[in-house]
Amino acid sequence: MRQYEPSGSTAQDITEVLLPGPVAPEGLVVRRRSLDPPGPGRVTLRMEATGVSFAEQQMRRDKYFDQPPYPFVPGYDLVGTVTRVGPGADPAMVGHRYAALTKVGAWSSHVDLPAAALVPVPEGIDPGAAEALVVNGVTAHRMLHRLARVRPGDTVLVHGANGGVGSLLVQLARHVGATVIGTASARNAEAVRALGALPSTTGHRTSPAGSAPWPRAA
Ligand SMILES: NC(=O)c1ccc[n+]([C@@H]2O[C@H](COP(=O)([O-])OP(=O)(O)OC[C@H]3O[C@@H](n4cnc5c(N)ncnc54)[C@H](OP(=O)(O)O)[C@@H]3O)[C@@H](O)[C@H]2O)c1
Repeated sequence: MRQYEPSGSTAQDITEVLLPGPVAPEGLVVRRRSLDPPGPGRVTLRMEATGVSFAEQQMRRDKYFDQPPYPFVPGYDLVGTVTRVGPGADPAMVGHRYAALTKVGAWSSHVDLPAAALVPVPEGIDPGAAEALVVNGVTAHRMLHRLARVRPGDTVLVHGANGGVGSLLVQLARHVGATVIGTASARNAEAVRALGALPSTTGHRTSPAGSAPWPRAA
């Protein structure tokens, strides 16, 4: 078993990306600050992968439906390795990889989180691949199985089928045995087909004039 590290009782310097207000991407601010050691039941995670999603683009434009007040550090989810544990958290977590859904705060070299909020990531899985399954995967799985309750033989229409959520929806629906029609811009049609869906550009903002109306897929 790994030992609790006494060095975890001192603050450490971290680097994070701050969204100061509604700005162009160039307006994001990289800053250094000090992170206190984890408190009771909490851990420090060294970030290995985090996402840049549609949600963060909307937050940057001050248009997210649940907009956090500026300034804040974005980052909806992450995968990282536990480096320090606070009192009451399991010391055996140190050195192991976990995923977390944070909503904000993951665009940082190190993140302070409750130990109970972490999900173990199996050894041998690429952190970037695992991270792509957190907010996008949970969203896609819930939509498909809790809301739509898709069954084998169903036909499913997935808008934005090449996006983070959409590409997982296509793959999960195909896994169930559904036929999937996926909308995307023309440049992404082949990527949508490679996922197992029938691509359609109809209804997309970049649809060429005169393209076939849905449900005729390409
Ligand atoms: N409720 C939740 O928990 C939750 C969680 C995650 C995401 N979401 C929502 O799910 C949606 C997708 O998120 P994401 O992270 O997967 O986004 P993403 O990776 O940026 O993908 C966006 C997709 O939408 C397509 N698209 C963009 N503008 C379009 C338009 N005008 N008409 C048709 N298609 C268009 C894009 O197609 P092209 O690339 O071909 O242009 C792309 O396939 C967003 O609305 C997001 O807020 C909700």
